[in-house]
Amino acid sequence: MRFGSPILRAVLAQAVAYALLLAVARSGLLPIALQGRPAVLLMGILAAGIGLGLGLGPRWVPGMLFLPWLLDLLLRHPPPTWVWPAALVSLLLIYGGGILTRVPLYNSNRAAWEALLSLCPPGLLRLADLGAGLGGPLAFLARARPDGFFLGVEASPLTFALAWLRTLPLRGNCRVHLGSLWNQDLSGFELVYAFLSPAPMPRLWEKARREMRPGTLFVSNTFEVPGRTPTLRIPLPGRKDACLLAYRMEGPPAFD
Ligand SMILES: C[S@@+](CC[C@H](N)C(=O)[O-])C[C@H]1O[C@@H](n2cnc3c(N)ncnc32)[C@H](O)[C@@H]1O
Repeated sequence: MRFGSPILRAVLAQAVAYALLLAVARSGLLPIALQGRPAVLLMGILAAGIGLGLGLGPRWVPGMLFLPWLLDLLLRHPPPTWVWPAALVSLLLIYGGGILTRVPLYNSNRAAWEALLSLCPPGLLRLADLGAGLGGPLAFLARARPDGFFLGVEASPLTFALAWLRTLPLRGNCRVHLGSLWNQDLSGFELVYAFLSPAPMPRLWEKARREMRPGTLFVSNTFEVPGRTPTLRIPLPGRKDACLLAYRMEGPPAFD
């Protein structure tokens, strides 16, 4: 059964496992041998099983097993109070850029970078990665196409800093800016790439249609532009829905 985001399903699986275990413990049916630490292990196993039933992939299993241990540990040995604000600030530095656009950080893989390279035009090439993450696609493409120019825009400060460092040796043809993709003018690029989420796609498509020149390519990793048929779809290994969707830009919108 699949619904909502994987994070939501993972939290639900943990909550259901906890509620089940609590109900059994309250009813007095939980054997003594299964109380304390073994109960924590049991909760992890139950949560992992429920998570699989809710459509979470096998790579979620270690995390599902680990989370009850972590919570148990934190309850038994509470960390100093400064740890919580520090953790919150770190999370904001890494994921803050995606909070408003509902786009978390996850990285595309080498197969996606190679597919993206195959979409790059042979001549003049200026490519923008909107939401550059850790700069993986930018660094790969800048090395593969030294004749091209590659620009990344990233809104999360820590993620930006890592991408900036990663692409430092490639400054000759690669730049990363800290900022919002919504402020990036797209008119100067032959190819604009984005790996975001379903949420910003309608607005991003409108922006691409307004700013990109006819004949250029808008490429989305995995997330479709609603109501548009891609010019090209390149399936990627890994997740079932993983693919690059390339949209060739037509002339400017007739009545805008
Ligand atoms: C799924 S990651 C993709 C990373 C990289 N493009 C790749 O393909 O591996 C999306 C990134 O977009 C960033 N992001 C989300 N909203 C943004 C915005 N409005 N402006 C700039 N970056 C944004 C997030 O912080 C995150 O690092």
